Amino acid sequence: MQNTQIIREPIAYEKIPTRIFQNSEDASKAVANEVADLIRTKNKAGQTAVLGLATGSSPKTVYAELIRMHKEEGLSFKNVLSFNLDEYYPMQPDAIQSYWRFMKEQLFDHVDIPEGNYHVPDGTISPSLLATHCQEYEQKIEDAGGLDFQLLGIGGNGHIGFNEPGSLENTKTRLMMLDQSTRAAAKGDFGGELIKVPKKAITLGVAKILQAKRIVLLAWGERKAPMISNAVEGQVTAQNPSTYLQKHPNTLFIVDEAAASGLKRMKTPWLVEDVEWTNIMTKKAVTNLSLSLEKSVLKLTNEDYNDNGLSDLLALHGNAYDINIEIFNQLQYTISGWPGGKPNAEDTNRPERAKPAQKRCLIFSPHPDDDIISMGGTFQRLVDQGHDVHVAYQTSGNIAVSDEEAHRFLEFVVDYNTGFGIKNDQTMAIYKNALSSLDAKKDSELDTPEVRLVKGIIRKGEAKATCRLVGIPEENVHFLDMPFYETGRVQKNPIGEKDVALVSDIIEALKPHQIYAAGDLADPHGTHKVCLDAIFESLKMLRDQNYMKDCWVWLYRGAWAEWDIHEIEMAVPMSPHQVLQKRRGIFKHQSQKDGVVFQGADAREFWQRAEDRNQGTAELYNQLGMAEYQAMEAFVRYHF
Ligand code: F6R
Repeated sequence: MQNTQIIREPIAYEKIPTRIFQNSEDASKAVANEVADLIRTKNKAGQTAVLGLATGSSPKTVYAELIRMHKEEGLSFKNVLSFNLDEYYPMQPDAIQSYWRFMKEQLFDHVDIPEGNYHVPDGTISPSLLATHCQEYEQKIEDAGGLDFQLLGIGGNGHIGFNEPGSLENTKTRLMMLDQSTRAAAKGDFGGELIKVPKKAITLGVAKILQAKRIVLLAWGERKAPMISNAVEGQVTAQNPSTYLQKHPNTLFIVDEAAASGLKRMKTPWLVEDVEWTNIMTKKAVTNLSLSLEKSVLKLTNEDYNDNGLSDLLALHGNAYDINIEIFNQLQYTISGWPGGKPNAEDTNRPERAKPAQKRCLIFSPHPDDDIISMGGTFQRLVDQGHDVHVAYQTSGNIAVSDEEAHRFLEFVVDYNTGFGIKNDQTMAIYKNALSSLDAKKDSELDTPEVRLVKGIIRKGEAKATCRLVGIPEENVHFLDMPFYETGRVQKNPIGEKDVALVSDIIEALKPHQIYAAGDLADPHGTHKVCLDAIFESLKMLRDQNYMKDCWVWLYRGAWAEWDIHEIEMAVPMSPHQVLQKRRGIFKHQSQKDGVVFQGADAREFWQRAEDRNQGTAELYNQLGMAEYQAMEAFVRYHF
């Protein structure tokens, strides 16, 4: 048969140059270097560098690197003029969510840029002056000679600046109604209350963005993957304003591996370039072929391989059946209802060791609910199969509890005391202080330490209730309260020695045979990543201890994504009954139900996301030709 479907041109599908970095730190350094080079070159020529700047989570690491360069390498911002993309409307500049304040905190207050050289659209301008303000903002950019460099992030709906889907290519700087998904994603910055998120924002128009001499767009994490592949490989459409960047002659996308994971060169690299047929690459190609042709692995034919760009793989093995059976077996062996190992099983192909038959298992849960959301079925099986299961909740999770929830619990304590005739002035004083701080709390203020403690206690109670339901004793439930998390705001402190010590101490105390950790790097605030870093750091420190030779580490993914099917090394099946039991466990986290503070753009509740994902994994296994289960939880082994 003619090989008709294959086009082998390197990066042929990409319409915007895209550089992929292993992680966002290295990528941010590359961006900061480019900005610094521009500033220095302009400086030498006695000119001003005109920068277009963005807010949001993505550019923070770039700003941090620029500050470092200013402090350590003498990079001066005296010759910089900057214009930010957008600002909520209405918005006071000192409000905690204002982009003016964001820029001062993240960059301007730490470098020598003269006041008056930086500009952010004015969120306090009266409606009657708004149109003029927008025109003047554009005029100022033109007077400065246009933007030399525009930094961009990308919204979950493809917005650039706040140019939401539907924005035309020629739009000017204007007031924009925010998309519902943009407002939902910003909810966490507004105390979890959607109603408080402004409905409008002033944004630099698409036309002005496209006039910039150079544009660099940043994206980190898996959540950005679909938008990056649409922008880079899709058709230009107003429904995804980032696709307009395909028309710009000097745009570069700088992304980390997770954000790049939807690109064809990552998903199906054999269609883009020559690949080395390692086992994992073969598994990736065969599972992809099977799923895209909707044929089980064992039914794939020589023609299927030839017609879909896999003729070299076929040639390597001689015939389809040999590849099929090899990959089928590998997939089959990942399925195990015995996550702690099947006692007395001779079969060495199982994902876990049979011995010791009873293992000590330590589940690290970054927030107080990741254990049950991401691996509730496996947690339950480990307990039911007689292992000594411990859970270590790494952070208090206090910022994700609403004020209303805190109020209710504070009231409970007072009513409890009154009901039992306990006269306790201290309780009353704490109650009154906390209540008045909650009532008086403006958007610009953080919770008091007392309120944060209450919120943390609420989440502890929920986690304990889950552990009771699953059936582990209270002494096996550990709360680490890692200090990096305790800032009271979304922005956390960097990881410190104490954080690592808390993690390594518990590993040392328990000497586990199995560690389960959240290998999910895509959570919205980076907490999972810091928690994982603390575990990796501890493993490095403890690796020479004797007991560590017996310790296997399994990584699960958080609430946002699942491992790719070819990566999975252990898939733990769940019956319909086990799915319901897991749902009950997730329901114990009442503060995270019915509209959580950090919902993100996904409107589903956590139990729904977990069930959809676990059912999705089971369906994939079934489509590949394995047994049909109700749901499955997936793990990848980490070798240290
Ligand atoms: C910010 C802005 C937005 C963000 C986008 C991505 O000034 O204009 O377009 O760049 O919403 O936000 P993060 O980086 O938080 O994912």
